[in-house]
Amino acid sequence: MANVVVVGAQWGDEGKGKIVDWLSERADVIARFQGGHNAGHTLVIDGKVYKLSLLPSGIVRGGKLSVIGNGVVLDPWHLVKEIAILREQGVEITPETLMVAENTPLILPIHGELDRARESGNAVAKIGTTGRGIGPAYEDKVGRRAIRVADLADRATLETRVDRALAHHDALRRGLGLPEVDRDALIAQLLEIAPSVLEYAAPVWKVLNEKRKAGKRILFEGAQGSLLDIDFGTYPFVTSSNVIAGQAATGTGIGPGAIDFVLGIVKAYTTRVGEGPFTAELNDADGQRLGERGHEFGTVTGRKRRCGWFDAVLVRQTCATSGVNGIAFTKLDVLDGFETLKICVGYELDGVALDYLPTAADQQARCTPVYEELPGWSESTEGARSWAELPANAIKYVRRVEELIQCPVALLSTSPERDDTILVTDPFAD
Ligand code: GDP
Ligand code: IMO
Ligand code: MG
Repeated sequence: MANVVVVGAQWGDEGKGKIVDWLSERADVIARFQGGHNAGHTLVIDGKVYKLSLLPSGIVRGGKLSVIGNGVVLDPWHLVKEIAILREQGVEITPETLMVAENTPLILPIHGELDRARESGNAVAKIGTTGRGIGPAYEDKVGRRAIRVADLADRATLETRVDRALAHHDALRRGLGLPEVDRDALIAQLLEIAPSVLEYAAPVWKVLNEKRKAGKRILFEGAQGSLLDIDFGTYPFVTSSNVIAGQAATGTGIGPGAIDFVLGIVKAYTTRVGEGPFTAELNDADGQRLGERGHEFGTVTGRKRRCGWFDAVLVRQTCATSGVNGIAFTKLDVLDGFETLKICVGYELDGVALDYLPTAADQQARCTPVYEELPGWSESTEGARSWAELPANAIKYVRRVEELIQCPVALLSTSPERDDTILVTDPFAD
């Protein structure tokens, strides 16, 4: 049976949540493998809106197993809150439908504080993070001082772990002018929340390998986007995890051979939230129009997303770094009514043509876009459910994108609604 990895192929907010929800009808297990509640995924099902940050987007469908893998950083208080909100919306969540890997590192309140203190204290260091403690939590993971889900089960272990973490954090906090951490209060807080997390704790690597052997289909759900990847993104203006498809294996404990199809989620234009280079950014009426028609405001922080034309250079690059087999092309309807559309087909750096985004930050910032112009369309594509409903110029635009990124369209999305989706190639087909 085929297993599919979904990754964002731009700077996030490509519509991964909608596509994962749509695809999860075909899957048995849906697993998050990186990021945390910095993600914001909006699903619309028969007009009802669901907003997810930490829980896999497959959770709204009954009869599926949702999994939070070890590659995620988990804020236990946020987990409890998000479960409560979804239950109020009628979603059933039990230890049979949700599992959290025992080796998942936790986001503590001190991580959020540190994240926000760094962002507000020093304009030079500002990344424009979501302020949710993602970076500091991953730092503790690789620094071997994280508290992990399994540590919550034993008081003595938890105390040792907290002491180890605080030896680092108190020194850091003194330097930032923050008060030292109240050790006993933190331990009490963790012991209080522990049962609400431990009821979902499981050896996820084992469960997934058993499911795979039993012929179940696994859908790996990426958060963020490949250009926010800690290695391949626009460093340092990135998130603190690997976002690209290879992370699906390490972030859940299944071998890379389990991945049969990588689906890149690609928005029909470009957006980014936070600081950092953005070659095809538009600071004009076209950019404003994209933002308004696309409702480009962050789900997590409410920030306005920066908008620009479709950048084929970037997507060709991210399709390569994730080994994308096909893309889900989303928000095509947002382009309705533009007289002409532009696609960034190359960069110019100091008079030299480039067909990829260079690594050096100063070079990234100095790249200028080379555009190709295509005719727009005046008809509406909103809600289209077949190619036949698309105007000729919209099809031409999609075909040109496929050519430029060297990757075929597998799915096409024409509105936020679950079923306003055109299937070209089934990623789960054997
Ligand atoms: P994610 O983070 O990749 O899951 O994306 P977000 O949910 O943050 O942002 C995508 C937004 O676009 C959401 O509000 C979706 O409801 C919406 N959306 C998804 N697909 C489409 C589409 O094809 N057309 C339009 N107009 N909106 C879409
Ligand atoms: P989804 O899953 C868009 C951005 C932040 C910031 C940078 C680092 O909804 O696509 P962090 O809090 O992760 O340390 O912030 O990454 N960022 C996102 N941008 N969509 C996301 O998630 C994002 N998650 C983080 O804006 O620039
Ligand atoms: Mg989002």
